[in-house]
Amino acid sequence: MRAAPPPSGGRRPLPRRPLLGVALAGAAAACAQAQTAEPRGNPALNPPPGLWQIARERGLTFGSAVQANLLNSDPFYAAAYEREAGVLVPEYEAKFAALQPEEGKFEFGGFEAIIRWGQNRARTTRGHALVWHNAMPDWARAAIGESAQRARGVMEAHITRVLGQTRNTIRDWDVVNEAVANPPGSDVPQATGEMRDTPWLRALGPGYVETAFRIARERDPTLRLTLNDYGVEEDTPAATEKRRRLLALVRGLIRARVPLDAVGLQAHLQIDKPFSAPVFAEFVRALRAEGLAVLVTELDLREGSTIAAEYPERDRLVAERTYAFTSTAIEAGVRTFLTWGLIDKYSWTVTDTGVARQGGTHHRGVPLDWEYNRKQMWRALARAFRGERPDPDGWFR
Ligand code: G3I
Repeated sequence: MRAAPPPSGGRRPLPRRPLLGVALAGAAAACAQAQTAEPRGNPALNPPPGLWQIARERGLTFGSAVQANLLNSDPFYAAAYEREAGVLVPEYEAKFAALQPEEGKFEFGGFEAIIRWGQNRARTTRGHALVWHNAMPDWARAAIGESAQRARGVMEAHITRVLGQTRNTIRDWDVVNEAVANPPGSDVPQATGEMRDTPWLRALGPGYVETAFRIARERDPTLRLTLNDYGVEEDTPAATEKRRRLLALVRGLIRARVPLDAVGLQAHLQIDKPFSAPVFAEFVRALRAEGLAVLVTELDLREGSTIAAEYPERDRLVAERTYAFTSTAIEAGVRTFLTWGLIDKYSWTVTDTGVARQGGTHHRGVPLDWEYNRKQMWRALARAFRGERPDPDGWFR
């Protein structure tokens, strides 16, 4: 039984210079009172410009992961994407299992529905992800395990067909996703060397990454080809080691003249982990020094269960980290920012029990609240895109 939708926090006139105790008491009272949430996606609370237009004013790109079925079934969801997202990325519809559920049987319906929805609104769509260890159909896992030759054939056939089908609509792909193993100390460590233990690695060795990029470049020389990964954004020993591993992989690919154009940093941030702007900026600059673009591809925030505060203090903490991360990334040269969803209630951080917040509350880690209305995280992104500072008391009004 899902907890009652939380009230939309963070938009009413916020307490100035709140002492935490006063804020908590005020927020608790607000929380108790505000059982009647604002109208969904209230236009008065979500006026133009949207985040994509604010980003574009400064030469930046903003977009978000999207679900085809919700674009069709939920008008408030579609309106929110129309307002806020300049780039779309299918949350599931462009993955191996969705596109080729049976060998040789391709299904592009969901992917092309997203592409068309975007085209009708002059929005672009990026592809995610050609080669990954997750969202793989059973037939592919079995085939890849048969032999290196079979695995290469499966990879080549998938990339060839998908890039051929989307040649005129998709110009930007996550070619390989999550190739680096999580070091000790990570949330989910993999004690299998520096490369993640996947069916592709077992079948083809570490060279599978190079193979995927070379096939993609051969099939379409004009694509932007991205290597995407996560767990490299925060100031922890595990993230430090994963940054080292990812940078080593990237430098090896560059030295081997592998056609790599960009690195995607997923940025599934966790507030209860430290963030160091200088450390993260140095990492982005090191990647850019290899001649690569750096994209933030899946930004969202998890609050952990340690943060007991209620709205809008929780929203302030999410906004504070969003602002620190985004402004640091912009300053280091990142120009593309994609969140992994726009509306809290549809976020994987709420629906995936592996990462959901405990205790009956939900993470509020994407720009719009349960009622599709902007909250402090939205305003933190807007201020970072505009190069504006937070309010002196750290709130994003
Ligand atoms: O399994 C059904 C499938 O049969 C059906 O055809 C399809 C129709 O949409 O739905 C499938 O259900 C689920 C799917 O999401 C669509 O909702 C899958 O069971 C479920 O595993 C899948 O989860 C997605 C997950 O990636 C695995 O692909 C999440 O929504 C998505 O948020 C998550 O996104 C990943 C990124 O790709 C990579 N970075 C981490 C991020 C979060 O895990």
